[in-house]
Amino acid sequence: MKAVHIAVVGATGAVGREVLRILEERDVTLLGLRPIASARSEGKTVPFRGEDVPVTVISERAFDGVDLVIWDTPDEVAVEWMPKVRDRVVNIDNSSAFRLYEDVPLVVPEVNPESARAHKGLVANPNCTMMTLLMPLAPLHRAANARRVICSSYQSVSGAGVAGVDDLYEQLEKLLPEREAVRRGLVDLPPGRAFVHPIAFNVIPHVGGFDSAGTTSEERRVASETRKILGSDTEIFATTVRVPTVVGHGISAWVEFERPIEADEARALLKAADGVTLEDDPKTNRYPTTLQSSGIDKAMVGRVRNDPANTNALGFFSACDNLRKGAALNAVQIAELLIDKNWL
Ligand SMILES: NC(=O)c1ccc[n+]([C@@H]2O[C@H](COP(=O)([O-])OP(=O)(O)OC[C@H]3O[C@@H](n4cnc5c(N)ncnc54)[C@H](OP(=O)(O)O)[C@@H]3O)[C@@H](O)[C@H]2O)c1
Repeated sequence: MKAVHIAVVGATGAVGREVLRILEERDVTLLGLRPIASARSEGKTVPFRGEDVPVTVISERAFDGVDLVIWDTPDEVAVEWMPKVRDRVVNIDNSSAFRLYEDVPLVVPEVNPESARAHKGLVANPNCTMMTLLMPLAPLHRAANARRVICSSYQSVSGAGVAGVDDLYEQLEKLLPEREAVRRGLVDLPPGRAFVHPIAFNVIPHVGGFDSAGTTSEERRVASETRKILGSDTEIFATTVRVPTVVGHGISAWVEFERPIEADEARALLKAADGVTLEDDPKTNRYPTTLQSSGIDKAMVGRVRNDPANTNALGFFSACDNLRKGAALNAVQIAELLIDKNWL
């Protein structure tokens, strides 16, 4: 594989730190690595391959000499800075800012690698909740054409970045001695940074911003990004929910196909699929849990079962590390694909 100079913008954040860890683990030959963040990180370092590498504050010059940039920043940072460097470097963007642009490929290397070939300096990395659904849905869709999906997510707090993880631990510490108040729902906490309700001991059906129809931006992303990657018009109705876990998103999905599909056939397809590990033996309590999925590179899928009321439909549960396959790992896999195929 060709050696490249990579910059990671947002290297101090939840996803950016994971990108550095994954670059350490994998076979990418680096001419150099430049961690970039905001002025808040001036003077900080990040650990990489046994060294403390100084963080560079973002500026146009921060991208000099770089071949490839992995962006792990909020949307508005990508929107402000990407156009300034897009003609100089190839960009892989983890934000949702450009994912649905027609001229921006949205890529999962196990599912639609060819679409990366036509990039115009920018490849988008998809949403982590969508990824948890897509990894099992893609092989089933290829075999039986998914017409309709109804799903609910169980999303960890790290999906809201470092602030989400801090909110959960701080609130848990405050509430652990307050058993009676928690029992009665009478918790009195200062507002968190990431969520509008307390997340400790809670389940919140609200991820992203609401539109006038009452659908959240996260729910729209699950639907539109799945359709873009599969190139299909599958109808998708999602409810996205935040739960008090640290890493690992879960999704429970009901899928109706164009033809009847037995659970055994679905299990065989999932077993053979790249990026999926089948964990499905209820008799021995084997099924995916989000904790088990944390730190692994594949989506774990189980609870595969037919809908007794509809021979064309089945349900499954999928769990996927939102920081790895849901974000950082997929971005590094896109980088490897571009380098390997000479598509930089
Ligand atoms: N967390 C997930 O599971 C997940 C999954 C898929 C996609 N994503 C997306 O990935 C992106 C990063 O998410 P995250 O969870 O890692 O967020 P995070 O933990 O809040 O980290 C944000 C990063 O962006 C940097 N940043 C903020 N403003 C900046 C600026 N003006 N200039 C340069 N850098 C700036 C921050 O640097 P400072 O430390 O200097 O502030 C920090 O390194 C978001 O677009 C998110 O939607 C996240």
